[in-house]
Order: sequence, then C-alpha cells, then structure tokens
Amino acid sequence: MSQQTRIRRTTVPQIAARKGGEPIVSLTSYHAHTAAIVDRHADFILVGDSLGMVMHGMETTVGVPLDLMIMHGRAVVRGTEKALIVVDMPFGSYEESPNIAFRNAAKVMKETGCGAIKLEGGRRMAETIRFLTERGVPVMAHTGLTPQSSHVMGGFKTQGRDEESWQSHIDDAKAVAEAGAFALVLEGMVEPLAARITKEVAIPTIGIGASKECDGQILVLEDMLGLNPWTPKFVKVYGQLGPMIEQAVGDYAEDVKSRNFPGEDQVYR
Ligand code: KIV
Repeated sequence: MSQQTRIRRTTVPQIAARKGGEPIVSLTSYHAHTAAIVDRHADFILVGDSLGMVMHGMETTVGVPLDLMIMHGRAVVRGTEKALIVVDMPFGSYEESPNIAFRNAAKVMKETGCGAIKLEGGRRMAETIRFLTERGVPVMAHTGLTPQSSHVMGGFKTQGRDEESWQSHIDDAKAVAEAGAFALVLEGMVEPLAARITKEVAIPTIGIGASKECDGQILVLEDMLGLNPWTPKFVKVYGQLGPMIEQAVGDYAEDVKSRNFPGEDQVYR
C-alpha cells in the first residue's frame, strides 16, 4: 500500500476485543437517515434481513433477495461514518457451499462497503465460516432462534426451554467461534443457556431476547421505537413513533381538507 488510509469506523478486532468488557451497543438499520442517528450511539449497525418483514411487509425473512440486502446495505454505509456495518446474508445465498457463500459475501462487501457479514447457523456453517474468514470476509454468526429456518423450527420459538437441548446449542456456539467468527448473535434463547454460552465461548455474544449476561444487545430499531404494529415481548419500547406518525398524518389530512395549507410565497422564502 503506497498510502496509509485512516480507518475511522469501529473495526472487527475492536468488537472482538470487547469480550467481557463494556457492553456492545447495536441496533438494526435499513435506511441512510435513521442509520446516521444510530451511528452516533452504536458500536455496530446490522442491516438485518428482518428488513423483509419490517420494510417490505413479508411474513418471514425467507423471501429476501441478495440485491435488496445490497441496496439497503449501501444506503446505511452512505449514511454513517463511525459504526461497523454488518450486512446479513439472506436465505439461499450462502448455505449451498463455501464457494457460493464466498462469491456472494464478496459481492455484498464490494457493493455496499460494509465491514462484515452475518449468517445463520451453528455447526453446519462452521466450514463455511472458516472458508470465509481465511479469505478476508469477517463473519458474525447467529444461533439460537434462526428466523431463516422458521419453517423447519415450526415458527419463531424460544430455544432451550428443554434442558436436554442445551448441549446442542453450546456445541453450535463453540463451533462457530472455533471456525473464526468474531462475534455471535444469540437470538430467542432462555436466559441461563445464553449466560452459559457467553461464559464458555471466547467471542462476544450479542443477545436479542436472550440474556443480560451477553456481551452486548441488538434490537430491531423499529421495534424499540414503537413503529411496528406488533412488538416482541422482550423488547423495551423507548419511543412511540407509530402513534406520533398517526397523529401527524391525521393533523395534516385535516389541514388539507380545511384548506389550511400555505401558498408557495410562504414556503419558499
Ligand atoms: O435480521 C435481523 O434483524 C437480525 C437481528 C434480529 C439479529 O438478524
């Protein structure tokens, strides 16, 4: 390299080094302007495939295409300058083989400018995670409730209710950590299991409906802002944007109907 460029964003090694330290702050974002706000507070921002449900009204994340992830990923990278941006690999873009996963992950990184990708799955994805990380693609893993497998799981169900299943979840977490994942999202998992995984793996765990013992938390931005019609019960709602928008749009409609809107001379000063 002929010239050193200053890396301003939070890096993958900086996130990995937060294991057992100050909790990692994270939210999803799909949109340049909201991402700019989140960027001032979050260590990393996930362009999650939940955007299929939140932004596009899909029933699950299974139908999300790679190009949609790239389009939203690019918008979030454009709107931010500080946080590490992680883009989700959608269903069907990485499971078939490590080669296909690399081709699609490289496309996501080149076309969005993101710093890492996330994929779902434990032991079954370990070989792919090793293949990607050895070739320059930082991977955030995701185990527990994995929404892309919701059809196999029979819905969005909390994992680990049956203690006999714990060892399988622990083995999944250890396998992705040993394969080179730099962090692990634990979604929808009973608290003692998430706490135990957090103790037993060397990489930071990021909980969502999991445990406050995790090394950080992620929420879907629209859930914590009160913007989604349905909010999962583990989500603390910090704003009421849904009702605020309803009120503002209703007031606007009333103004227009009563011709209470300004003319051009009052607007363009
Ligand atoms: O797609 C997403 O938003 C996610 C988070 C829920 C972790 O994977």
